[in-house]
Order: sequence, then structure tokens, then C-alpha cells
Amino acid sequence: MSEQRTYIVLLGVPGAGKGTQAKLLEQALGLPQISTGDIFRYNLKHETELGKLAKSYMDRGDLVPDEVTIRMVEERLQQPDCARGAIMDGFPRNLVQAAAFDKMTAPYGGVKVAPLIQVDDEETIRRITGRRTCRTCGAVYHILYNPPKVAGVCDIDGGELYQREDDKEETVRNRLYVYYKQTAPLIGYYFAKGLLREIDGTQSIEEVQNALIAVIREAQPA
Ligand code: AP5
Ligand code: MG
Repeated sequence: MSEQRTYIVLLGVPGAGKGTQAKLLEQALGLPQISTGDIFRYNLKHETELGKLAKSYMDRGDLVPDEVTIRMVEERLQQPDCARGAIMDGFPRNLVQAAAFDKMTAPYGGVKVAPLIQVDDEETIRRITGRRTCRTCGAVYHILYNPPKVAGVCDIDGGELYQREDDKEETVRNRLYVYYKQTAPLIGYYFAKGLLREIDGTQSIEEVQNALIAVIREAQPA
């Protein structure tokens, strides 16, 4: 039998808590978080060619072209820390990316489980407008729901907390539109494969984490 790896695909609207949960799952499962949004933001900050290309799309809240994104993920998955699998946060994000991801992961048993973190749009807006992100490690906070110990400073590495450029109200509205048009079809895609698991994302961060760990363990008995 070929080598098996654990690929987990986190689904949910912008602001559902994918990044928050992926960071916690990294520690709980010992698998790396692969956030395409974080990789693009890193490139943007360092003004690489990829960053310059991604900027115009991200500023509008549109998706970066598939060929660029898919190649970037393929390269990332070849890094040594991905030897046991990965927690996918923000990829795949449309049906073309999902088919490409199936192809990439097929030799290792494919996607194990696709948890959908569900929250309504009003809560999404509340979460996104209060979000603060660490400039250096990418840890995610909320000024009311999950504040850092010292305002503006990351608990983990002391990095500066900032508000994301694409968290302006108009851009958030377009991100939600893009989600419903392009990403929501993935719910049916993974449901048809028997991999979708719905999680109530309005619970506390800890409760969502426990629910996620339960569905992941169930998908992959120890
Ligand atoms: P990306 O960075 O992926 O953004 P997103 O999908 O819009 O998701 P968010 O990061 O906004 O939300 P999240 O679910 O991670 O929530 P979080 O944990 O932060 O993408 C950005 C852009 O990059 C895209 O628009 C696109 O241009 C490009 N891109 C990325 N991937 C791409 C791809 N595959 N293809 C093409 N383009 C791509 O939580 C939100 C807030 O809520 C935080 O403040 C948090 O503290 C709080 N919170 C979380 N959980 C709870 C809880 N249970 N209770 C209370 N508060 C909570
Ligand atoms: Mg995120």
C-alpha cells in the first residue's frame, strides 16, 4: 500500500475561524497549517513578484488566479514539514483547485476530511472588523472575543498586531460574494465524497476546536 498522509481541508466563510482553528490544530495534531492567504500576505510584505501579482486581487477581495495558487501549494506541499500531511486553510477555494488538490494528494490517500465551520454573515462581519493579526507569526486575535494580553502585542512572539488591508467593509462584502459564488460549491463537492463534516462555528474557540478534533479523529482512527 502507498504511503498515507493526513490532509484536512477547513471550509467556511471569511471570518468563520479557519485560521484561528488551524493554528490550534497544528499544535494538537503536529501537522503544518497551509494558509494560502498567509503565504500571499508574506509575499506582499516582502514585495516579491508573487506578492505584487497577488496584491491587486487581494485588495479587491477576488481570488488570485488558479494556476499561480495551485503551483504555490504544490511547491509548499513538497517541503519536509508536510511529510505527514497538512491542515489546509483557504485552499482549495473553488472546484478547479479542489480537482487539482485531489490529484496532488491521490498518491497519499487523498483528502481525509473536510470540516465546514458554520457561522452567519452578521457574525462574520463582527469577527472580521475586530480581528487583529500578528505581523510576524500570523496568530489571530479579536479585540473583544479573543484579545491579546497586552493590546496590540502578540502573546506568542511579541510581534505587532495589525488590521488586514482586505478587512475594510467594502472588500469584506466582495469576499463574501466570491465565497458564495466560487467556494460554497465545495460543500457539495466534499459532501458527495462523504468527507464533509458540519461544525457549529458560533461556539467558543475551545468548543469549536474540540468538535474539530472529534471529527478528525473519527475520520482517522488512531
Ligand atoms: P484568506 O486569508 O484565506 O482570508 P479568508 O478566507 O477571507 O478568511 P479569513 O482569514 O478572513 O477568515 P478565517 O476563517 O481564517 O477567520 P479567523 O480565524 O481569522 O484569503 C485572503 C485573500 O487571499 C483572498 O481574498 C484571496 O484574494 C487570496 N487567496 C487566499 N487563498 C486563495 C486561494 N486558494 N485561491 C485564490 N486566492 C486566494 O477569525 C476571524 C476573527 O474571529 C478573528 O478575530 C478571531 O479571533 C475571531 N474568532 C474566531 N473564532 C471565534 C469564535 N469561535 N468565537 C469568537 N471569535 C472568534
Ligand atoms: Mg484566515
